[in-house]
Amino acid sequence: MATNRTFTMIKPDAVANGHVGAILDDMIKGGFKIVAMKYTKLSPEMAGKFYAVHKERGFFGELVEFMSSGPIVAAILEKDNAVEDFRKLIGATDPAKAEPGTIRNKYAKSIDANAVHGSDSDENAAIEGSFYFTAFEQF
Ligand code: RTP
Ligand code: MG
Repeated sequence: MATNRTFTMIKPDAVANGHVGAILDDMIKGGFKIVAMKYTKLSPEMAGKFYAVHKERGFFGELVEFMSSGPIVAAILEKDNAVEDFRKLIGATDPAKAEPGTIRNKYAKSIDANAVHGSDSDENAAIEGSFYFTAFEQF
């Protein structure tokens, strides 16, 4: 059964390029409520833990390096059907394939620097949210 929460990160490229405000605005206008939010930076060790499911993939080293290269915004978002609807709002992993109007289409430059993360399942949304936030930081 679908739950109503997902987890997102505004990635280092989008933060560095000044898109935090516009991206949060797109999320809110897309019907998502902010439940928790943090401006922070991942160490390579933390980035490796976060993306551990990808550790056998060829792009893992670059992914960890990129995700720890600068500050990010981490957030838990709430909406009915949150995981699926948020993946639609952000668009395809490769911004060249992302639908017009999606966050990755508007703000991402490449498959590596693709502006935002969105959880891919309810289970991972819960795991990823608790990676950053305690229960007392969720409102
Ligand atoms: P994310 O987890 O960041 O929301 O992205 P995603 O679900 O759309 O894509 P995923 O398969 O989970 O991959 C995680 C991140 O790894 C990079 N990637 N590079 N070079 C490649 O073929 C490749 N594939 C994936 C992307 O930056 C992707 O967001
Ligand atoms: Mg993913």
